[in-house]
Amino acid sequence: MIYKKHSEKVFFTAGLVFLVINFFPINASAQAGRQKVSVNNDWRFIKGDPNDAGDLSYDIRPKVTNRNDNVVADARATDTTKGSTSDKVLKNWILTSANNFINEPAKHHQRPSGNPGSNVSYVQNDFNDNAWDKINLPHDWAIKGPFYEGANAEVGGGMGRLPVHGIGWYRKKLTIPATDKGKSIYLDVDGAMSYAMVWLNGNLVGGWPYGYNSFQLDLTPYIKFGDDNQLAIRLDNPNNSSRWYSGGGIYRNVWLTKVNSVHVEQWGTFIQTKNVSASSATVDLSVNIENKSNTEQNIQVVTEVYALNNKSIRTKAIASLKKSNLKITAGEKQKVEISAIIKNPFLWGPPPLQKPNLYVAVTKLYANGKIMDEYETQFGVRSIKFDSNKGLLVNGKPVHIQGVNQHHDLGALGAAFNTRAAERQLEILREMGCNAIRLAHNPPAPELLELTDRMGFLVMDEIFDCWERGKTPLDFHLIFSDWYEPDIRAFIRRDKNHPSVIAWSFGNEVGEQYTSEEGAALAKKLHDIVKDEDSTRPATASMNYAKPDMPFPQVMDIICLNYQGEGIRDAPAYAHLRGIKTLPLYPAFHQKFPDKMIVSSETASALSSRGTYVFPVTNDVSAPVSDSTGGDPKNKFVSAYELYTAQFGASADKVFASQDKHPYVAGEFVWSGFDYLGEPTPYYSARSSYSGIIDLAGFKKDRFYLYQSRWCPDLPMAHILPQWNWPNRVGQITPVHVFTSGDEAELFLNGKSLGRKKKGQYEYRLRWDDVRYTPGELKVIAYKNGKQWVQDVVMTTGKAAKLLLSADRSVIQSDGNDLSFVTVRVCNKNGLTVPNANNLLQFSIEGPGEIVATDNGDAANLVSFASKEKEAFNGLCLVIVRGKAGKPGISKLKVKSATLKEETISISSK
Ligand code: GAL
Repeated sequence: MIYKKHSEKVFFTAGLVFLVINFFPINASAQAGRQKVSVNNDWRFIKGDPNDAGDLSYDIRPKVTNRNDNVVADARATDTTKGSTSDKVLKNWILTSANNFINEPAKHHQRPSGNPGSNVSYVQNDFNDNAWDKINLPHDWAIKGPFYEGANAEVGGGMGRLPVHGIGWYRKKLTIPATDKGKSIYLDVDGAMSYAMVWLNGNLVGGWPYGYNSFQLDLTPYIKFGDDNQLAIRLDNPNNSSRWYSGGGIYRNVWLTKVNSVHVEQWGTFIQTKNVSASSATVDLSVNIENKSNTEQNIQVVTEVYALNNKSIRTKAIASLKKSNLKITAGEKQKVEISAIIKNPFLWGPPPLQKPNLYVAVTKLYANGKIMDEYETQFGVRSIKFDSNKGLLVNGKPVHIQGVNQHHDLGALGAAFNTRAAERQLEILREMGCNAIRLAHNPPAPELLELTDRMGFLVMDEIFDCWERGKTPLDFHLIFSDWYEPDIRAFIRRDKNHPSVIAWSFGNEVGEQYTSEEGAALAKKLHDIVKDEDSTRPATASMNYAKPDMPFPQVMDIICLNYQGEGIRDAPAYAHLRGIKTLPLYPAFHQKFPDKMIVSSETASALSSRGTYVFPVTNDVSAPVSDSTGGDPKNKFVSAYELYTAQFGASADKVFASQDKHPYVAGEFVWSGFDYLGEPTPYYSARSSYSGIIDLAGFKKDRFYLYQSRWCPDLPMAHILPQWNWPNRVGQITPVHVFTSGDEAELFLNGKSLGRKKKGQYEYRLRWDDVRYTPGELKVIAYKNGKQWVQDVVMTTGKAAKLLLSADRSVIQSDGNDLSFVTVRVCNKNGLTVPNANNLLQFSIEGPGEIVATDNGDAANLVSFASKEKEAFNGLCLVIVRGKAGKPGISKLKVKSATLKEETISISSK
């Protein structure tokens, strides 16, 4: 089979799970009956409703009168629980899109009569949208800003100070050839933020409110075959609807799926592997088949299983599964179950000790001997076990969970999904020794799970941050009662074939933890829906409050603790704080639930700004940041000595000690891997978080090396902090800390030994806290088991003398998606990064590439990510370059600065 890199073309292809990593099959015959067509390009977009939309809405929302979260009812509010059949409130029409994901037929929604919205100008075929913005998807309408500044900003720090909120319309013409007549044609939206409503040729088709789930709508009844069809999508993303930056717009891929009337249903296969060993594994496949024709069909199902190589290309067929002569009456669906044994399977498991081997099952449906559909399901053969004493076992082998939490945004690119940007994040995390990701707190873009499958990350896939009890005035709690079931079922059906997904989380720190029996009963209801969709993985919800003797944790298959394991506000430096104080709870949970595995789904919430150091430095191992300790309120910096945390948090060191004292704990997911937009604790006038181990631009904070020292014990590494340019601190105490995978180290300042130190039990850094600054060279020689292991040097650099540019990849695809991440370093004459340089830089590009975004990683920087001018932050700045679609060639990115020589780097698009 020939594969081709992704471009905006029609792909004759089967299946939906392994399409978008990098390679696509292009020569599957049209007979195979399934086409998945990218419809990302050439959309028109505008913010706001036209006047003739009136009060069009999904439902009447409570009105938030001010940003102090005082909610008063909207003047129009009536009893919204029963819904309204007013043709401006579309909830009752939209709800019918959920029916496939509601189990009891009696609870299915009936579409009311009428065609609301049909008179709105923006849905008309002949409406002239030439004046609207011309955009390609994925699109985040908020990311270019400008940032809202000041104390009473319309969108505050929580949601990232960016214009995420409001209504937006997208329009695109779809040309559907006459030859498609008789086919079913679906619109697949991987994610739209939020409250999507879709019209085709002026007809309301349906929609999906929750912005993080993927959904499919059947366009067939409204299509004009052999003609242009006008698609119009309205989104309405509320302000005050999230604790973090949601992004706004159609921020993921959109597809048209064309199939014959007999076809595999949306996300219609489920592969479970059982009895897994090195010599054999059972593959159980279930296929949901839909007969949308008006006659009964005799169908034969044939599935071949192929091994995939590391480029997702099929190698050899290794098993064949057959099921013959199934009858499906007109308009009905049926599930078939087939099983096979794979001999000597290549198992899927996380590196470095295991390999993420993948397979694909190619299922063909024949009706009366004629092929009707071909559907691909990518999967992995692996066993997972959650052991209350040994932790996680993958294929019988223990894997300590060295995980991080990740939000969905991609920094300067916003929520607009980009596969390369996500892959880069995972590559950087991998370098740190990270092997697991918790998707906080919502389903990801489908392509992210393609990456985690291929790269071998373990994933905790999570759906909700709240249930009935909201956390912000307009979050998911408003629609919970209508949507919890369809959202959970859709989430699991989409993601359940990914071998990287090891557990389902159906809630994060939900308010129901506090409500005893009532909250536990709701938890049980959600838990049971998860298990009904997939009984092979544990279902859980993360707890920062529920205690072992409460009913809530009893519902959970595994115990996921946020911060409670290592204790909340229980170290000396936190004693003065108000708020809940929790002793380390690992032992109490372990005792109460001796058969349940415990993992910390959130740890740390340590805070820092890359490369900033605030004095004096606390003597504690962990301390809450405040304006007088570790914080610099003027600049909105948090010291990168990596000892300071949110009030409920704990430093990495404290968490490590706690994990080591309780070896039955399966590991941790650090809050957070990368910085993310919004939630800028402790400085809410900033735009992005401080909790990342890696900053928003993807530059490593010092903390990166602390985790690497623990998670990559065999990698010889040592890292010194702080930087050593302190002209105003000569003679003053300037502590030096070293992170190393060694166990001992000697520090030298200008050749003079400052002493050799050894890590004690439960110590993870070496500290020389009484060093007096004098410029020159700091050098550390680290030892392991008494032998010299590795060295690191930090030098006083003096002034900036030149710029140095480097690209993570100098050759990219000219497909309109691929990216090169260029790091600009402000250096001294010897090429050492000047760690406190903040020179203003100007960027320009010649050739077919374009600058899509710039960032310097400073959480408090409110210069637009689209700006071609930015200050370096502590010596570094990032420029993201994209290759234009269909325009190969060499681009030259130029970086200028007032006092430094202009520098250029070439990036070739192919
Ligand atoms: C946790 C929460 C996360 C994030 C984090 C901030 O309590 O689950 O979503 O808010 O705190 O440090």
